[in-house]
Amino acid sequence: MADAESLKREAGIAACKYVKNGMKLGLGTGSTVKYTIIEIGRMVDEEGLEITGVPTSEATRVLAESVNIPLVEISQVESLDLTIDGADEFDGDFSLIKGGGGALTREKIVANLSKSMIVVADESKKVDVLGGFKLPIEADPLHSDSVIEEINGFCPGEVRIRASGQKNSSGNQPYITDNGGYIIDCEFGPSITNPTDLEKTISDINGVVEVGLFVGICDAVILASSSGVEILVNPDGRLN
Ligand code: A5P
Repeated sequence: MADAESLKREAGIAACKYVKNGMKLGLGTGSTVKYTIIEIGRMVDEEGLEITGVPTSEATRVLAESVNIPLVEISQVESLDLTIDGADEFDGDFSLIKGGGGALTREKIVANLSKSMIVVADESKKVDVLGGFKLPIEADPLHSDSVIEEINGFCPGEVRIRASGQKNSSGNQPYITDNGGYIIDCEFGPSITNPTDLEKTISDINGVVEVGLFVGICDAVILASSSGVEILVNPDGRLN
């Protein structure tokens, strides 16, 4: 049976068949799309592929630069041909939870600018109902307490600011996003049957920068499992 890392690699590389000369590409963040980015770098170096990338995080910028992918800022593009990114969960309607890596805000901006979005994932990401993975929300640090209070009003589980893993004398330091925000992880459990409504409810809270629910954005999932790589095309998506 294939190990998780091999599956990520297979899914990440399989997505590259959608990458064509001249494209402007959104480059996602995470341990699966890392393999897509490395493979695109190889195609640039060895096959003369000409593309321009827009990174969704500083980590992706560093990786893409290290493999010689030409990059521009989000602000320099009006639209993108394709975004390839990972996901923490996806359901049967191609709705996603993203933000495990903390990059959800730029990931959503880039995906929304794109004519299509492909998710690369291993079989552990496929769920019947979203929410087993804690839903990440980016919030303005000055409003994080009031955001938590409001979400506590309807989230059945724990709602907590993500820690950076670094400590000072007063305890764990918050994780800070590339935008200077906090991430609030919300334990809904596998109960998110209406991600559209939940995304709107949370987005409307004062101080919320972005919600890690991506609804109506994903056009296909490239899914690697122990039985091989499968391309799941969203029947309502733009690649159909
Ligand atoms: C980054 O903020 C996330 O949205 C990632 O795309 C997501 O967490 C998937 O990452 P992995 O491929 O590392 O699981």
